[in-house]
Amino acid sequence: MDRMDTATARFRDLLGNWAAGSGPTYLRLSAAIREVIDDGLLDPGARLPAERALAAALSVSRSTVVTAYNSLRRDGVVISRQGSGTRVRPSGSKAPARPDDILARLGRNQFFRGLIDETPVKYDLASAPATATLIADLLRDAAADAFSEMVMLASDHGYAPLGLPALRAEIARDLRARGLPTAPQQILVTNGAQQATMLAAAAVATRGGTVIVDDPTSVGALDAFAAAELQPVGIPVGADGPDLELLHAAAQRAHAQLAYLSATFQNPTGVVMTTPARRALITLATELRLPLVEDMSLADLSLSGSAPTPLAALDKQAQVMTIGSLSNIVWGGLRVGWLRAPAATVARLARFKTAADIGTSLIAQLVAVHLLPNLDEVRTRRREALERAADLTTELLRELVPEWSWREPRGGPFFWIELPTGSASTFAQVAMRHGVSVIAGPLTSAAGNYDRHIRLRFADEPDLLREALRQLATAWRAYSADAADTSGPAIGSS
Ligand SMILES: Cc1ncc(COP(=O)(O)O)c(C=O)c1O
Repeated sequence: MDRMDTATARFRDLLGNWAAGSGPTYLRLSAAIREVIDDGLLDPGARLPAERALAAALSVSRSTVVTAYNSLRRDGVVISRQGSGTRVRPSGSKAPARPDDILARLGRNQFFRGLIDETPVKYDLASAPATATLIADLLRDAAADAFSEMVMLASDHGYAPLGLPALRAEIARDLRARGLPTAPQQILVTNGAQQATMLAAAAVATRGGTVIVDDPTSVGALDAFAAAELQPVGIPVGADGPDLELLHAAAQRAHAQLAYLSATFQNPTGVVMTTPARRALITLATELRLPLVEDMSLADLSLSGSAPTPLAALDKQAQVMTIGSLSNIVWGGLRVGWLRAPAATVARLARFKTAADIGTSLIAQLVAVHLLPNLDEVRTRRREALERAADLTTELLRELVPEWSWREPRGGPFFWIELPTGSASTFAQVAMRHGVSVIAGPLTSAAGNYDRHIRLRFADEPDLLREALRQLATAWRAYSADAADTSGPAIGSS
């Protein structure tokens, strides 16, 4: 059941969150297959996976797949011929697809895909944490101040591609307080760390180039690089961060144009690079003239004391671009992030930023300006809640799924869990049908590794967390009983 051909695994990834929502399972499946075909992600005439293989990959009964294929056949979307299986009808596909189609790469990210498809998920343990309630009072006050100030700014055109001077100054001040000397001119305000990642890639990499990433890494970063048509190469992350010997060899071999890493509370492992490892990384990058991006999105979410100083503080050659965001401690909906680099690089990047959106919303920036002076209070509340949620998660997982293993994260909102058996991708399908979304390991990996791992977000309110983990454990029992039964899966019927 765990061995699966790559074509079937790719097809399953294309289907995304098909299992969410309501209605008969076969209808949800046929609708998802139809969408993949309509999107042009399969060539006309392309063969669909065999029914038994797809049933195993999705952990559904074979009759579910048979019924879904039958309904597609009735509607003329696919054709079947004895001996040649089920194929996309030549006219059923609107556009020819490439095997490395960017749309297909972007479609793998179950979290982002769910946002776009507006997939209803009862218990979302897949995405970034919902954080605003914890600081609702501070956010409300900052928003009220922002609105009254906005009236004063409204005589202007309202575009500020580099960022509001007051916000750039606040962000620079905060970085200095973390031990990283920074002038406001070194700050570019962005729409979250996601845009900062794309801008950093645009600054130094060219289409088709190689970018070194952690393996596993942030699913959003893989999307940013897919959209920029860069090829990510993953370097395994151990207890101290990425393996630097492998990184050195891979960067040299592939003439890497950029390395994207998170030295503090890595997503999804929660690992922190030690100071010697940080120094070695900077030496290596200097020697190879390899630009680095340090993503500090999760660096405020400490579970073990204070966070180390940013990598750029060790960097004499200005090779490190540092990115961060208010999403994980304030609110993702604010869409305020930043990129720190030498002032000349910031000026260059501002051209890309202006081409993309002419600047981040002034209202959002003003809210951030008024929140930043209270950032220490925000951090304290966030850390306290995070510690409680981590303790509760540890307790519940030990009780409900004692056979799962994980290393306690040093920080960040995720547990990176190793399953004792089976395929995480298939288990994630079963979990989704129990109303719980988690990220299967391969989605975090440039090469699709880690099919024994799931990324589980734990930073939630206790009652929700309790119920979500109970449902997840129920899904695991159903899946593992099924995995033990070599005659094939039978969860979820048409
Ligand atoms: C490591 C990392 N980078 C980037 C992001 C995207 O964040 P933003 O909302 O700031 O774009 C996240 C989201 O949680 C993240 O964990």
